[in-house]
Amino acid sequence: MRSYLEQPIKDLIQKHPSLGTLLSEAGIGCTTCSLGTCKVKDILEIHNLDSAQSRRLLTRMGETLFGDAPFEVPDIARKAAPIRSTFCPPIARMVEEHAHILKLIAAIPSMVEALRRDLLGVRPLAEQALDFIRNYADRYHHAKEEDILFGYFDPQSEILKVMLQDHEDGRAHVRAVAEGLTTGDLDQVEAHFRAYGELLRGHIQRENEILYPWMDRTLTMREVGELYARCAEVERGFGDRPGEYERFADSLQNI
Ligand SMILES: [Fe+2]
Ligand SMILES: [Fe+2]
Repeated sequence: MRSYLEQPIKDLIQKHPSLGTLLSEAGIGCTTCSLGTCKVKDILEIHNLDSAQSRRLLTRMGETLFGDAPFEVPDIARKAAPIRSTFCPPIARMVEEHAHILKLIAAIPSMVEALRRDLLGVRPLAEQALDFIRNYADRYHHAKEEDILFGYFDPQSEILKVMLQDHEDGRAHVRAVAEGLTTGDLDQVEAHFRAYGELLRGHIQRENEILYPWMDRTLTMREVGELYARCAEVERGFGDRPGEYERFADSLQNI
């Protein structure tokens, strides 16, 4: 099994689809990850598996990969980090921001229906939603991730590449929604608004459940302090606007 540790999990799942089921059963959602080119060894770390859990998972994977042939499971010396019930304050704040982004995403289907009923009347609201996405979800929240939090980790790690690609794909959907609103092409607006919502919902779930917990337990106390100070500086730079955007997202529950 040792040589498999360096292999991208997606390639293995493609060749052996039952590995995807096996990982899902273990709470590791590689099959639903948008790019997911993590290596097998990364999965053990990112999902915080200790030596015994790593051995169990690799044994089950080996049974699929080798069938009846004998195979050796390497010893992985890892201690699972203790699970924290809460995130450190700067990451907890980013989780709160996710909740507001999800409120906007939840309003997308009704906004699209309303646009189809009354394009001119509802277009200003849709433009406000795009403004929220560009300035709150992207310039404020994603910039904190990209410019600060992710900077504490290896930029070549596959999980970070996946997350950054999601941000880029989201920006492309937003550009297409804006274009559709300008030209009045509601099919384009609907397709890209919904695709944005679906992309970001999965992205946020992966950040809340996998990426942030891994980052939170990996950062040193000194780094957490520095992260707090750097995020606070960004927040000060945005003044009252984050609060205003959050109230806008709250207001969308009634559309
Ligand atoms: Fe993100
Ligand atoms: Fe995020």
